[in-house]
Amino acid sequence: MEVRKLGLRLQEEISRSLGLDKDCLKNILGEQGQHMAMNYYPACPQPELTYGLPAHTDPNSLTILLQDLQVAGLQVLKDGKWLAIKPHPNAFVVNIGDQIQALSNGRYKSVWHRALVNADKPRLSIASFLCPCDTASISAPKARTGGGERSIYRDFAYAEYYNKFWSGNLEPERLELYKN
Ligand code: OGA
Ligand code: NI
Repeated sequence: MEVRKLGLRLQEEISRSLGLDKDCLKNILGEQGQHMAMNYYPACPQPELTYGLPAHTDPNSLTILLQDLQVAGLQVLKDGKWLAIKPHPNAFVVNIGDQIQALSNGRYKSVWHRALVNADKPRLSIASFLCPCDTASISAPKARTGGGERSIYRDFAYAEYYNKFWSGNLEPERLELYKN
């Protein structure tokens, strides 16, 4: 419940930072679902041959991740390079998901990330995903795209996006498919 509150507060601030009313993004995202994943990555004798999780962006709106303080493994893609994200005591990692990238008309970028495995220690992470309501119509607010700014993505229903994600069709750059 507290992580959910934090995510919604962050969405309010993201909304404000885009020059929108604080509730604007939350209103578009509708009654958001919350999924929690307990990721357990067993120790792997040949970690260079695999990934705990291959490179991906999160398909939802916002993800709040609690990392294992003892074992690192998360990496993010920045300027074409993979950077290790050191676990920080008393801190969460917050990922912008694909839907905030779409709603911000590309101002916020959904982050490419992956998880490595470790040769001798298992690793644990707990991710909490805020997910738009299935019927949410993902459409960048007019205040963002008005005044001459072109809308980068066509409007789509979140359910359509999500179903594609789980159809096993894990092609990279999913949001690319929705470009105008
Ligand atoms: C995820 C994820 C990273 C990690 O669950 O989507 O990216 O560090 N997890 O486990
Ligand atoms: Ni992820």
